[in-house]
Amino acid sequence: MKHETQVEIIKELMSQLDENRNVDAGAQFRLPTSDYVCPELAAREWQAFFREHPQFVGLSGDLPEEGSYFTTQDFGTPVLATRAKDGQFRAFVNACRHRGAKVAQEAKGKSARFTCPFHSWTYASSGELLAVPDQDHFGPVDKPCMGLIELPAQEIAGMLFVHPQPGGELDVASLLGDELLSEMEGWGYGEFTPVADLDIDMKLNWKLANDTFGETYHFPKLHKDTLGKLYHGNNLAFEEFGRHHRFVTANRRIDDLRDLPEDQWSLTQVALALYYLFPNIQLATTSTGANIVRIYPDPDNPGRSITRVVGYFSPRALDQYETEKAKASDSIKLVDADDLYARGYDQNIIRTPASTVEAFSSTVSAEDYVMGEHQQRAAASGLLEHSIFGHNEAPLHHFHASYREALGRPPLEKIT
Ligand code: FES
Ligand SMILES: [Fe+2]
Repeated sequence: MKHETQVEIIKELMSQLDENRNVDAGAQFRLPTSDYVCPELAAREWQAFFREHPQFVGLSGDLPEEGSYFTTQDFGTPVLATRAKDGQFRAFVNACRHRGAKVAQEAKGKSARFTCPFHSWTYASSGELLAVPDQDHFGPVDKPCMGLIELPAQEIAGMLFVHPQPGGELDVASLLGDELLSEMEGWGYGEFTPVADLDIDMKLNWKLANDTFGETYHFPKLHKDTLGKLYHGNNLAFEEFGRHHRFVTANRRIDDLRDLPEDQWSLTQVALALYYLFPNIQLATTSTGANIVRIYPDPDNPGRSITRVVGYFSPRALDQYETEKAKASDSIKLVDADDLYARGYDQNIIRTPASTVEAFSSTVSAEDYVMGEHQQRAAASGLLEHSIFGHNEAPLHHFHASYREALGRPPLEKIT
């Protein structure tokens, strides 16, 4: 992100805090709670947003070297993502061309070859079919035409995208738009290393899980003993980029900048910069790297979703952590998950890998998603017809308006 944009956002957040204002969407809107429980809507969303929409699957560091791979089935299509000898990122349907067994079993690893466990057909990480055992028994196989089925895959600005359909169109620049893409390029995601992960499987619709990341109104209330210790809450610099948006909220270090010249201001030192990428990604950019949150529906149950969180370190944060750890295992500078909230905004600390995903366990899973499970039950009862989004919940207006528009549904109903 350009430095002048960072300064502009920091000034906006300072002035919101000084004037006791929050973002203002200009109106309240209401949403029928049936959006969280309706099986027909859930089926349409699954088809349009997960089976047929480009999917963000990680950062370049998830495939760090030649032979690296990972697998996923989160959006229906079983995917094997690889980085072959030529260094290129590729994606395939993780299904053997013989009779469809999974060729790669592990969530991630390193291997130049994949041997199907069923009858041992073997594929290269470039997808090519290398070997068919007992071919004199099996009969002829046209090997050059029987490689793994390739999916459109693109690595751009350090981000990995896959289209779940072999004939699908994948053009990340037009998907994100030039302005957002060039801003994201500036964060250096391509250099980041995954250091920790966490999965959350709870009984709330995938959109309720997304709603967690849509306002700061609740920070000083629900999160008063957790995230609220690090962030002021009730302030938000919000900007839309088509169906995507940027959400920036101040942490408690922001006042330290007031005595510093603007050319030394850095947004991620004093704020959480969170990008929402349509339909299901929350990408938090922090002073130590990033946290990527991917939220998936259960296609058989609108009342359940899976959230996958990965914490990444920037090269600097990784280096600081490794240097400090090598010095002393009980270094007081190292802040682990346990003391994140007590010491999280002390300038002298060094984050551990576990601390990168701690907030997703203690805050998101144990607080936000507990509210989400209550909201899900209320929606399922059919007795609470609407939820209301306030002036200060602008990202929620945008998220719900975006997926409704994408399905050709009417916009949210304005109430004031
Ligand atoms: S299904 Fe893979 S070798 Fe038979
Ligand atoms: Fe929250």
